[in-house]
Amino acid sequence: MMSRIAYVNGRYVPHSEASVHVEDRGFQFADGVYEVVAVYKGQLIDEQGHLDRLERSLDELRIAMPLARAALAQILRRMVRLNLVREGLVYFQVTRGVAPRDFPFPFAAAPTLVITARNKKFPGRDVKAVTVITTPDQRWARRDIKTVALLPATLAKQKAKEAGAFEAWQVDADGYVTEGASSNAWIVTKDNVIVTRQADHNILRGITRMAIIEFAKENGFKFEERAFSVEEAQNAREAFVSSASTFVMPVWKIDNVAISNGEIGPVGKTLRDAYFDAMDQLANDARTRSTD
Ligand code: PDD
Repeated sequence: MMSRIAYVNGRYVPHSEASVHVEDRGFQFADGVYEVVAVYKGQLIDEQGHLDRLERSLDELRIAMPLARAALAQILRRMVRLNLVREGLVYFQVTRGVAPRDFPFPFAAAPTLVITARNKKFPGRDVKAVTVITTPDQRWARRDIKTVALLPATLAKQKAKEAGAFEAWQVDADGYVTEGASSNAWIVTKDNVIVTRQADHNILRGITRMAIIEFAKENGFKFEERAFSVEEAQNAREAFVSSASTFVMPVWKIDNVAISNGEIGPVGKTLRDAYFDAMDQLANDARTRSTD
């Protein structure tokens, strides 16, 4: 039995023994940020995008990068190897560090860095569509920062789970979908226009989202960044969600309104295939490099 390894502040430790201090500000104030990167055929997917966003999130909160970007990238790779991850997820979190509990920033705390990695089988290219429910968006005004303050997301996901749904789409006060609890939300209109909400402070700028926008352009699809209502989504031709762990996941039902028969639609299929093609290409390139 392979034992899992976690990384905590410079040390590789057995996962079961990995811990941070009780006065870590991540624990006490949710004063930290995180990233989730998919591993496919042993490769980190969209690594640069995720590292860019980590730096941006940290910058917005005035937390220092715990180590140089290149060093972090090396540790992520090492974690993939040590945990024998071929297909799965790497999670990394940076908090403002350990300090006596007091709201303002501590004078001199070193940021905490925690990394875990695990195997997880993703559904393949041929995936069945999932269902979503909607729920009021109860989050703060800076959803573009990927903080570990995930209580609203947790409550939304639990609601989805209890309703037998895969994801909860959060809805703003005007009735427009912001995004899923842990994914971005997309529709394809009856005129075949791909629509996803503009990436301002109201949503997380998904790294998968950015890749999909590129694939949409490459495939000649019409594309718009704008808000859409729940009703518009329920009248859409297709819908899907995107994230590092779902890539492009088709949606066939929104709050009990079926928009398809449960099969992936043609646009969703093209984009999901494009994602898998890009990941296969990355894995092939890495293999070529290592045998050169
Ligand atoms: N969630 N929106 C929210 C609120 C998210 O939490 C996520 C990611 C996304 C998609 O972003 P990306 O494509 O960069 O993964 C959008 C991760 C996977 C999580 O919390 O597990």
